[in-house]
Amino acid sequence: MAESIKAPRGVRDILPDESWKWAYVLTMARKVAEDFGYQEVHLPIFEQTELFCRGIGDTTDVVEKEMYTFEDRGNRSLTLRPEATASMVRAYLEHGMNKDARQPAKLWCAGPMFRYERPQKGRYRQFWQLDFEAIGVQDPLVDVEIIHLSLELYRRLGMTNLEVVINSVGCPACRPKYREALQNFLEPLLPDLCETCQGRYDRNPLRILDCKRPECKEKTEGAPSIFDSLCEECREHFDTVRQGLETIGARYTLDKRLVRGLDYYTKTAYEVLSGDLGAQNAVCGGGRYDHLAEAIGGPFVPGVGFAAGVERIVLTMEQQGCSLGEPPRVDVTVIPLDPSLRVEAMGLLASLRKAGIAASMDYAGKTMKSQLKVASQEGIRGVCILGGDEAAQGVGGVKNLRTGEQENVPLREIPSYLAKMLRE
Ligand code: HAM
Repeated sequence: MAESIKAPRGVRDILPDESWKWAYVLTMARKVAEDFGYQEVHLPIFEQTELFCRGIGDTTDVVEKEMYTFEDRGNRSLTLRPEATASMVRAYLEHGMNKDARQPAKLWCAGPMFRYERPQKGRYRQFWQLDFEAIGVQDPLVDVEIIHLSLELYRRLGMTNLEVVINSVGCPACRPKYREALQNFLEPLLPDLCETCQGRYDRNPLRILDCKRPECKEKTEGAPSIFDSLCEECREHFDTVRQGLETIGARYTLDKRLVRGLDYYTKTAYEVLSGDLGAQNAVCGGGRYDHLAEAIGGPFVPGVGFAAGVERIVLTMEQQGCSLGEPPRVDVTVIPLDPSLRVEAMGLLASLRKAGIAASMDYAGKTMKSQLKVASQEGIRGVCILGGDEAAQGVGGVKNLRTGEQENVPLREIPSYLAKMLRE
């Protein structure tokens, strides 16, 4: 036999024992989106590579080391999206949404993202994000709304033991001064830092603070923070964000070292951390990106948003014993007593489904006894039995598995009979 093929490393199959939990999270996200006025969009899974290089930044880990980039048959360089923000802003510009009267455009999407990272619990090479973006205005209260939206989603999902960490990462006006201060601090340490950090010293020294190597982290511990070099405008913006968070009763921690892994951030940056996840503990991250649109060839269009990892939400909820709804099941099973009645049973199934009753039948040749056993194990509530004589007279036996009662019902009336029974 040929060797069997397995899924690639770092990806997961979401099977029926789990997919209903995902559906629950997605349904809740859709509801929260509606309540906050965010509209759903579906964006491409792959984009031109250039979008991410320019949008996320050439010197970020995501672009340097983690992208799934390939050439298509027309020799174009394409990349499986590692995140959705750059695509959202591209779509916003491409479809002229900046000309709409209503700003900001409040958009959200859900779907798989792809990053070539070292797989571990809560970190995969294909993972799902819920991504929310408010594009078009600079008002700090929109930052508050975005943070509030993420917290409201977690509240409705019943998640607890979460910590909100926020920082301001400044803007092009305050960064140059900070960059200089940081370079002065880093210069004597350079020989002890890793090659990647050394390479970033000139091109993007801020990224050095995001290096994951413990040796580099330790060496740069005492680095000055951007927070302490903020310009007047950034400071005022951040003060309003903090006041807003306090007003809505959102508790947060100021983390002056929070820089986030993507280059487009300006001003507000934040993460929500789960106390029940271990190393990969961020259940969402986001912030403001006022110059992303320009980086990808558009005009000045500010924006703010966040993305939450669905796997990490489900993991946290399981860990905390939160309710994730219930797996879907059919309500009724149809059992033909004789093989010659199987086709007729198909007709009955069709009329049940047309009446909105979830129903199924056995196709594997199981005995009536084992079909009844499976039905009660699966919590099925009603059984329709098609017997030779009764079927010939146009009736079927309907059994209520909860009460054990059984009654002969004219075939045409079975859907309404069952609908009533299921309502009781
Ligand atoms: P990010 O921090 O790279 O930000 O990812 C956001 C969230 O996606 C993380 O907090 C985590 O829950 C989840 N996530 C990231 N990588 C993985 C992985 N390898 N496996 C499982 N889950 C993962 C962004 O992607 C930005 N686009 C967020 C944003 C939106 N900023 C502004 N708007």
